[in-house]
Amino acid sequence: MAAPASPSVVVLAAGQGTRMRSKTIKLLHEVAGRPMILWVLDAVLALSPRRVVVVVGYQAERVRACLADLPVEFAVQEERRGTGHAVLRAADAVGRKSRGELLILNGDLPLVRAASLKRLLTGHRRSGAALSLLSARLEDPTGYGRVVRGTGGHLERIVEHKDADRATRAVQEINCGVYCGAPRDVFGSLDRLRPDNAQGEYYLTDVAHLLIDAGKRVAAVRHPDAAELAGVNTRAELSAASRAMFLRKADELQAKGVTLVDATRTFIDPRARIGKDTVIDPDVVIEGSCVIGEDCRIRAGVRLRDSRLGRGVEIKDHCLIDGARVGRDASVGPFAHLRPGSTLEQDTKVGNFVELKKTRLGPGSKASHLSYLGDADIGPGCNIGAGTITCNYDGQSKSRTILEGGVFVGSDSQLVAPVRVRKGAYVAAGTTVTEDVPAGSLAIGRNRQRNVRGWVTRRKKA
Ligand code: UD1
Ligand code: CA
Repeated sequence: MAAPASPSVVVLAAGQGTRMRSKTIKLLHEVAGRPMILWVLDAVLALSPRRVVVVVGYQAERVRACLADLPVEFAVQEERRGTGHAVLRAADAVGRKSRGELLILNGDLPLVRAASLKRLLTGHRRSGAALSLLSARLEDPTGYGRVVRGTGGHLERIVEHKDADRATRAVQEINCGVYCGAPRDVFGSLDRLRPDNAQGEYYLTDVAHLLIDAGKRVAAVRHPDAAELAGVNTRAELSAASRAMFLRKADELQAKGVTLVDATRTFIDPRARIGKDTVIDPDVVIEGSCVIGEDCRIRAGVRLRDSRLGRGVEIKDHCLIDGARVGRDASVGPFAHLRPGSTLEQDTKVGNFVELKKTRLGPGSKASHLSYLGDADIGPGCNIGAGTITCNYDGQSKSRTILEGGVFVGSDSQLVAPVRVRKGAYVAAGTTVTEDVPAGSLAIGRNRQRNVRGWVTRRKKA
């Protein structure tokens, strides 16, 4: 048997989302640190779809920019006249009679899993229904379209909250906003929609009614995990969605042998990979695609973003680590800032109030206190004294500082780039290094100290 054709997908992303009360379109609000529409597209793209059409309208340029790197096409809905009207904008891009299934989903379902979409697709193929949609049971269904079933449990109607009478509002089964059908059936019905409802909109849900009236079967497939398919409409639901996503990640990590000291207070991006026996304190934020090795310890208040940590690394309290690499058994913080392009090799130490930018710290090297190291290449076994600063910027351009292996830099020194300190050289405390230092030499550049005897007593008498 031939493999089923991959589906075409339409994602609805044109609505403003007025209930957010925001200047920004709802779908660009972040769930777990990332615009919610991107999570939806992750799930969609995992299906290897034949094509994905995103319907944009309100703040279309911003939505396009957010999705610029993804393999999706766009259709434009100039006026927002309802979800049915929106899907019709995608008809040309999808092809009214194209083969395979058409999967349609609201863009405000950040928690949706690819597996659930797959199950809907395979269930739909097997059932022979003209249209299948996902439903779920909610304790408080206020605001959602209700799934009304007739005798025998078959779907009869979907009634929007605003159109529902008291009895229908008591129904707790809701329409989740995820649909699957043949393009020919869906677009054929969409052409015949009428906006005769409380909101004067073209409802996508009326497609179900037109198909039922034509004697075809529409299946409402009840999804067991309602939280996964609850749409985000308000700021409260936005926060709840982030929390749900972090808890889902916490469960996954704990199952793989990661200790979360308080799993309700971790903020870990679902894309993070973390090795076993790593221990993560409360209030740690891990954003983007981080990779963290085994046996690491990450203390409270740390933010890691798009970074890699080798095994056995300790990050002490309140560090910001962004776009950096930290080698095995290194120790960072407390209160350190590793900026993009920084690499700490194995067994390094970066201590209190140290900032690194585009700097490599060679194996075993240390910068323990109060330093700025920018555009520097520091070899193995170097010691950077407290308060050392690379002067990498002259107001116009950036220059590099190179310390070869085994260099000792005394406290409160400045290294004015471009400059090179060769193997095993020493820099005396308080020196401003402006010229290269030869191997094995001492660079000292400071005024000689003078002690004025009796000065204090004389001053007090005067
Ligand atoms: C919709 C469903 C409702 C379901 C709920 C699930 C309809 C008529 N109702 O209601 O049955 O319970 O989703 O969350 O479909 N959009 C456009 N263009 C428009 C209007 C909306 O692109 O003209 C997009 C929005 O950006 C959003 C999605 O469609 O991503 C859903 O819109 P929304 O207004 O949230 O629909 P609901 O009223 O929640
Ligand atoms: Ca909604």
